[in-house]
Amino acid sequence: MSESMKRVLVGVTGGIAAYKSCELVRLLVKRGLDVRVVLTPAATRFVTPLSFQALSGHPARVELFDEAHEAAMGHIELARWADRVVVAPASADFLARIAHGHADDLLATLCLASEAPLFVAPAMNHRMWLHPATQDNVERLRGRGVDFVGPEEGGQACGEEGVGRMAEPRRIVERLLDGDGLFAGRRVMVTAGPTREPLDPVRYISNRSSGRMGFALAEAFAREGAEVTLVSGPVALATPAGVRRIDVETARQMRDAVFQALPGQEFFIGCAAVADYRPEREERRKIKKSFDILELKMRRNPDILAEVAAQPAAPFTLGFAAETEDLRQNALRKLEEKGVDMIAANRVGDGMGFEVERNELEVFWKGGRERLPYQGKDSLARRLVQLMASVVAEE
Ligand code: PMT
Repeated sequence: MSESMKRVLVGVTGGIAAYKSCELVRLLVKRGLDVRVVLTPAATRFVTPLSFQALSGHPARVELFDEAHEAAMGHIELARWADRVVVAPASADFLARIAHGHADDLLATLCLASEAPLFVAPAMNHRMWLHPATQDNVERLRGRGVDFVGPEEGGQACGEEGVGRMAEPRRIVERLLDGDGLFAGRRVMVTAGPTREPLDPVRYISNRSSGRMGFALAEAFAREGAEVTLVSGPVALATPAGVRRIDVETARQMRDAVFQALPGQEFFIGCAAVADYRPEREERRKIKKSFDILELKMRRNPDILAEVAAQPAAPFTLGFAAETEDLRQNALRKLEEKGVDMIAANRVGDGMGFEVERNELEVFWKGGRERLPYQGKDSLARRLVQLMASVVAEE
């Protein structure tokens, strides 16, 4: 925790996730922080100011025009007092109001008046979260440096499934306290898993990638405070906490998803095992077994990594090289040919690299190389993220 981070203003807006804010306040107090709570009037329909008073040891505030409270600590003083402001849950309405600079209740006024870093943990129905109006507000707020924690994917109070659950209080606390994570607030895109290239309605060509390495990287970046977008081929893995996931099937779908979400990304990690070729024709009917030899014509797929690296304002790019032989030579060739900033080479085949839970990497960049020894993919991913941070810092 940084020395200057002692006073946290917790804002609570109206939503069923407001009950989780009690735990958030409890955890912050437990970490030795001085916490004050402000609720919107709608929040008081879900939780009471008295609960927060008991947990924080200070009266919780609701009204902007409250003479008793203003006499004790006026709202501008309260805005100046905070080292960090965290709004959890942040409703769609609240995001819209602060995106447009409204000051129509105490909490929105404080957000406008405070110069402290603002963290928001959105919580809402997944359709509301994905609505273009909400996404526009999110973009606008991110552009102003507002730090988003979540929302996460899963079952929702309304009975539907999707992205919109409030991040767990522990995670919000981690983010607040580790605001100095290696990639805090940076935007990182990771591709993971295999692609499937259809032959006919029931068959496809694919590869053995399980997605483990890419998912471990997405998680490691998120733990370092990054806003992670994970574009994944078909895998049987849960989405790491706080990561935004986009599912695709074919290489061309992966390319489209990557380019759609690319604006504003600062780092691109190509860990997916993208099929280099696809069947030239996707038969509309199941191919019959009427030939002894079936010849397939294949067409080259777009090279997503090389295309990203060739963009005029390209993000920092880390590619992977999956090699059965001449690891170093092939990796250095790919570093050069694909025009990437770094390349992580792994041996594949014979039970290595693909599918398995452990791996080793040899990483190359213009100024050096480093071997990351054989270990679980989770810790390997953390080491790779740290290495990348130090290479970026040297540039
Ligand atoms: O998923 P796991 O089971 O955990 O396995 C991990 C892994 C072995 C898949 C991973 O560590 C790995 O090596 N991923 C890259 C696999 C690969 O496609 O390597 P490649 O050498 O063929 O491609 C080089 C780079 O170009 C890769 O970053 C790849 O994502 C990218 N590429 C390749 C082809 C293509 N059409 N578009 C691309 O972007």
